[in-house]
Amino acid sequence: MHITAKPSLLMVAPTHYEVSYVINPWMQPGAWGSDPAAHRRDAAAASAALHSALEAAGAHVSILPGAAGLPDMVFPANAAVILNRRALVARFACSERRGEEAHFRAAFDSLRARGLLDVVEQYPEGIFQEGAGDAIWDDGRQLFWAGYGQRSERASLAITEDFFDVPLMPLELVSPRFYHLDTCFLSLSGGEVLYYPPAFSEEGKASIAAVAGRENVILAQDEDAAGFCVNAVNIGRHIVMARPPQRLRDELTERGYVVTGVDLDPFILSGGGAYCMTLRLDRESKPLVVEAAAE
Ligand code: ARG
Repeated sequence: MHITAKPSLLMVAPTHYEVSYVINPWMQPGAWGSDPAAHRRDAAAASAALHSALEAAGAHVSILPGAAGLPDMVFPANAAVILNRRALVARFACSERRGEEAHFRAAFDSLRARGLLDVVEQYPEGIFQEGAGDAIWDDGRQLFWAGYGQRSERASLAITEDFFDVPLMPLELVSPRFYHLDTCFLSLSGGEVLYYPPAFSEEGKASIAAVAGRENVILAQDEDAAGFCVNAVNIGRHIVMARPPQRLRDELTERGYVVTGVDLDPFILSGGGAYCMTLRLDRESKPLVVEAAAE
């Protein structure tokens, strides 16, 4: 792995990926089990297609090997929250994914040993938080949008805020189908946010409108949310997402974005899309501008 001047993303090789248990309403082990060999082949192709689309959008992608028995490691967005070379490793709410913590922790420790991260810590035991899936950095506003109420707990918010010392906007998630913030919320480089209202509490929707400003809000439709299109990776003017409906593609294109659709069906079978399949390693907040006292 190696961090360059390009936006740096981590992906996990899909070698051990499968859908073998159910921890969210999208997961279909029966569908996977009907032809595991074909699904495995399709998953490898989908992962490779995402990798190339991200590189074409200007990113550098590092690949971490997966581990047998931990099929959901292909969703490293849940592994940690990372900002300013500081990584805070997740605590998974579901026992099925807890084994991932040690693997990801080792990977981040080795990035630290190589000088690519400065600090690696973990959320305290007993406080569930599922990484960047529930802590989305808004570079324009210099804050985390933080989801809680499904996988990540409300108690995790203060820990995120303290560890990174940046502002955070809590958003309560109210639907089991949209169990991570990244399934229903996307913050874009131009200041827009694309989000799916039914996933949020009234208070959450009001916070989004107040903080983002009505002119910046793009409402995702049922088909966008169900197609995991909101779960997208934004790099500059590029957006890489699971194949979007034409309507959504047009709306984003009109706003000046270049949208690349990728067939991610094998991963949607586990409840994940493009954003979940990546973890951004090089996010930096902008230093506070302090008026220098002239001496
Ligand atoms: N099967 C995985 C789970 O339920 C999917 C995770 C998708 N990741 C995400 N950031 N939304 O945990």
